[in-house]
Amino acid sequence: MSYLRVSGGGRLSGELDIGAAKNAVLPIIACSILCEDEINIQNCAPLSDILAMLRIIRKTGGRAEYKDGGVYINCRDSVPVPIDGELTGGIRSSIFILGPILARFGRAQVCYPGGCEIGLRPIDLHLSGLKKLNVRIKDEGGLLVCDGRGMAAGEVDLDFPSVGATENIMMAAVFLKGTSVIRNAAREPEIVDLAGFINAMGGRVSGAGTDTVHIEGVKRLAGRAYTPISDRIAGGTFLTACAMAGGDVRLNRFNPGAVNSLTEKLIRAGMRVERGAQYMRIKSEGRIRAIHKIETQPYPGFPTDMQAQTVAMLTLAQGASMMVENLFENRFKYTVQLNKMGADITVKDRMAVVKGVKRLNGSVVTAEDLRGGAALVMAALAADGVSYIGGVDHIDRGYYQLEEDFKRLGGDVKRVEKIH
Ligand code: UD1
Repeated sequence: MSYLRVSGGGRLSGELDIGAAKNAVLPIIACSILCEDEINIQNCAPLSDILAMLRIIRKTGGRAEYKDGGVYINCRDSVPVPIDGELTGGIRSSIFILGPILARFGRAQVCYPGGCEIGLRPIDLHLSGLKKLNVRIKDEGGLLVCDGRGMAAGEVDLDFPSVGATENIMMAAVFLKGTSVIRNAAREPEIVDLAGFINAMGGRVSGAGTDTVHIEGVKRLAGRAYTPISDRIAGGTFLTACAMAGGDVRLNRFNPGAVNSLTEKLIRAGMRVERGAQYMRIKSEGRIRAIHKIETQPYPGFPTDMQAQTVAMLTLAQGASMMVENLFENRFKYTVQLNKMGADITVKDRMAVVKGVKRLNGSVVTAEDLRGGAALVMAALAADGVSYIGGVDHIDRGYYQLEEDFKRLGGDVKRVEKIH
């Protein structure tokens, strides 16, 4: 079993290039099924979630490989084979494959997705949206058997602006004659990027980034190379890590416009930030002001994917802060581990009260989910002494060799095979 060994206490300084957003790349890979030509997705790291999605593409008979810092896909020979639980079990975003397979073949069989460590994460909005496009769906013991032979453009009103449901329905509708509409759509930058990818291939999607998305059917999509947007959550993790440990960090190939709600909190916490078209810089004296209350919300609100890292930062603030998690019901598990390091966090239902402490101490802790794991690494970097963080496979789902990036910033982080 691997651990990240972190010797804390130093400041973080230097520059990093931010790669493509995992949450943009995953639906884009799934979307490649819609096209019979070669697709090249550039500037993305071989994260374990991305490799899992490539395995799903290969299962359909498509070619999908990771090469030279990008992904090459050709789905000319894909067929709508059942996507079994072994492939969908470890990765929630496997459900993204449903819309594209239906759009291309008019039928699909996909097992329920896995990856439920932060809450129930149902897929009812995906399925009810597809039904509005006239897809007939049967659940055969965990296998979703979908018949899309009668598919037609339609109007979908989402009860909640789900990111994944918006993306799935958008992809399902690409070839439907006429115009499909998604109302109360999610507005995340990754949705805008997926629309950009579809349009770059010749599709006609408009309104992405607003709460109403229109998809006008086209006959075919043409292959091309595409560079997805940079990862606002990975970038945000380095910004909060610097805020917590103190230092001066500049992120390049990064769009500060995508993290406005986080930046506002960093400024409130006493950080100095500088922003340009494609970079962001943060300077921290390591003194953090408490923030009375933060609530996670769909974009452009404060992202749930930055919740854990921000709570980690606030454990060292002067005073008490409150974090309310509105998206996922079980996303505070990591606070138990932070408390082992000397933090003072009390969780009640969807709210965490974080009383600032003077210092954290190195400890042996375990990551139980992706962003909670990143929060533990951040805390270990700011703590006195040595920490070992287990459960590294969770962290690897969304950060490629996180230890190397922190090393570039002067952090003392190593991947080791045992605790000694
Ligand atoms: C995406 C992101 C994830 C992020 C989340 C919220 C990807 C690959 N993942 O996940 O990192 O944390 O957005 O910003 O892009 N819900 C339902 N029924 C559904 C679908 C969702 O009730 O059919 C609920 C979920 O349980 C959750 C909320 O809606 O409470 C938001 O989920 P959603 O926006 O769908 O998140 P994901 O697409 O799974």
